[in-house]
Amino acid sequence: MLTAANNEMLTRVGPGTPMGNLMREYWIPACLSSELKSDGEPMRLLLLGEQLIAFRDTDGRVGIMEHRCPHRCASLFFGRNEEGGLRCVYHGWKFDVEGNCTDMPNVPPSQDFKERIKAKAYKVVERSGIVWTYMGKRAEAPPLPSLEIINLPEDERTVRVHQRECNWFQSLEGDIDTSHFGFLHIGGLKMDDVDSRTIHKWGVGDRAPEYKATETEWGTMYAAYRPAEPGTYYYRFAHFIFPFITLTPNGLFEDQVACTFNVPMDDTHTMTYNLTWKGKTRPLETLANGEWIPGLKPDMQYLPNTNDWYGRHRLVARRENDYFIDRDKQKTDSYTGIQGIGRQDQAAVECMGEIVDRTLEHLAPSDRMIAITRRRCLEAAQMLMKDGTVPATVDNPDICHRARGGAFVASAKIDWLDAYNQQLQTAKSPLGRLERLPQAAE
Ligand code: FES
Ligand SMILES: [Fe+2]
Repeated sequence: MLTAANNEMLTRVGPGTPMGNLMREYWIPACLSSELKSDGEPMRLLLLGEQLIAFRDTDGRVGIMEHRCPHRCASLFFGRNEEGGLRCVYHGWKFDVEGNCTDMPNVPPSQDFKERIKAKAYKVVERSGIVWTYMGKRAEAPPLPSLEIINLPEDERTVRVHQRECNWFQSLEGDIDTSHFGFLHIGGLKMDDVDSRTIHKWGVGDRAPEYKATETEWGTMYAAYRPAEPGTYYYRFAHFIFPFITLTPNGLFEDQVACTFNVPMDDTHTMTYNLTWKGKTRPLETLANGEWIPGLKPDMQYLPNTNDWYGRHRLVARRENDYFIDRDKQKTDSYTGIQGIGRQDQAAVECMGEIVDRTLEHLAPSDRMIAITRRRCLEAAQMLMKDGTVPATVDNPDICHRARGGAFVASAKIDWLDAYNQQLQTAKSPLGRLERLPQAAE
């Protein structure tokens, strides 16, 4: 459980909040590059509780700024995006992507004071098909995030985005709650149902593993482990990386180049970005006969986007329709009766309410990673408040190359972190970054 005060601190992300301040130390995924066209429609963008406008100018540069015009606060959503800037339709003031006022046509030239007007605009960089923005206070922004999956060429990566109607940390906790996999996703599966050659059979056969978890320079990490062949353990490793990134365990450690961003739109809505290397082995998803494990076949259908603050990347299966739960299938086919691993996760994290009341919980040993990640985040937010100290990854994001999620089998005689470091030595690294930075947790 968490006290009500700590739950507030952990979940609130608006300007001036402790967690919101911590996130503003980092570059943040704002939207997909493909969502903005040169001289195209300005887009409403909700980020860390701030109502913003994103647009791409005539030269292809992206601007992200406060949606209210600095003149008399009409929304720049209605603006004309033309000839190198966004022009407010109320009185014609015009702004470039950096927020400079470049035209003030409703005042006589002698009284023009446009050089003194600046819209609140954030720094923007495009990389990996994503528009990143820096919403913090530094005059010079910190380095961009440096995960291997981000650094890969665009055609080697898939990016999937969807909105969750719940708090960012709730969404993130779903990724680091490893214990749910054996129930929510494969609760009806038996060890004999899967290919006897897959190492994941050990996870199917034992759903109550032991856990190790520790703080790291980049955030936190854990391993769930249970016996495999005599003298070995089947491990599943995963990580939390500041400020809202997860590396999940569902796949093979040797090639699991992937990550998830849980980006807060506001306190009660989260935009998740799943980035995956196309060269990665598929996770456990089929039976021995090659058919999909019942209930796991993805069925991610999207509602049409709208111009609303909450109108982008919404799924058809949602709270209002109970995620199309099929009670007959729940009895006969899959554990949940909800179709698709992503939809099952969505249902689990959203059904707790927009911001779960963590004073009501009863955490178990299987929740150790969740408990230490909460503490790590709260302490980081408090350190920032106290004396401005930021996590090491703000100024040195390369630290994150030491984090890798996934499953492997290793000798039961060696320590879990030694097993992790050994696997890192041989893990595939498309850009060769893991070999360069071999040491894992401190
Ligand atoms: S409110 Fe935008 S130009 Fe007047
Ligand atoms: Fe899940």
